[in-house]
Amino acid sequence: ARPRPLVAGNWKMNGLKLSARVFASIAQGYDAALRKKLDILVCPPATLTVTFGVVAVGSGVAVGGQDCHVEAAGAHTGDISAVQLADAGATYVIVGHSERRADHGETDAVVRAKALAAREACLTPVVCVGETRAQRESGDALAIVRAQLAGSLPETADRHDLVVAYEPVWAIGTGLTAMPPQVAEVHAAIRDVLTARYGDEGAAIRILYGGSVKPDNAFDLLSVANVDGALVGGASLDAADFLAIAEYY
Ligand code: G3H
Repeated sequence: ARPRPLVAGNWKMNGLKLSARVFASIAQGYDAALRKKLDILVCPPATLTVTFGVVAVGSGVAVGGQDCHVEAAGAHTGDISAVQLADAGATYVIVGHSERRADHGETDAVVRAKALAAREACLTPVVCVGETRAQRESGDALAIVRAQLAGSLPETADRHDLVVAYEPVWAIGTGLTAMPPQVAEVHAAIRDVLTARYGDEGAAIRILYGGSVKPDNAFDLLSVANVDGALVGGASLDAADFLAIAEYY
């Protein structure tokens, strides 16, 4: 059986208080029919976690963070811990997004420590991996993704406490998407890593695709083998587009 799908929205550094209306539309659109088929997660900027958590009550939509510190508390100006995100109502947190890796120099070891910190706080980490354009063009995509996974994943995991997201860096926010055969190849390789590491549970851990997922390409991307959902950036800022992607299922 395929894992229960997860369609996740990453709002990145977008959204003000007023955006609670957009989130409310998403929560409203996640009706009984959709709830039967898939999980929905929205990761707003940290300033909106509590607000969205309140709006989400009773809807079944999960709220998540976009990053967390490796420690639970301490002298780390400007950072947010997994414990704080959980306290604010989050149940998931993205770790190792390529924008964090690029803008903040996060290494695989840091990403792994963040995934562990997330789980300590009872959050499910969404661990992101993906090759750059240069790495894709030099034929290294699979090796890069395998190496990132080897360094970023926890030693143990099950279907409830780990999600993996494959996001080719060249497809993020560019309007370019990977071709279904490219996605299939990388997701199959990720599945192999997960089952080698976690046994049967590895087959049930969700692997999301991310990178310019829109309503009009959702069918092609989400129907690929071992694609168990999407990590949606830009299109998740529009309730109708985000729900249209979820409606693939
Ligand atoms: O986390 C989401 C991804 O970075 C994808 O962003 O859908 O705007 O390309 P995008």
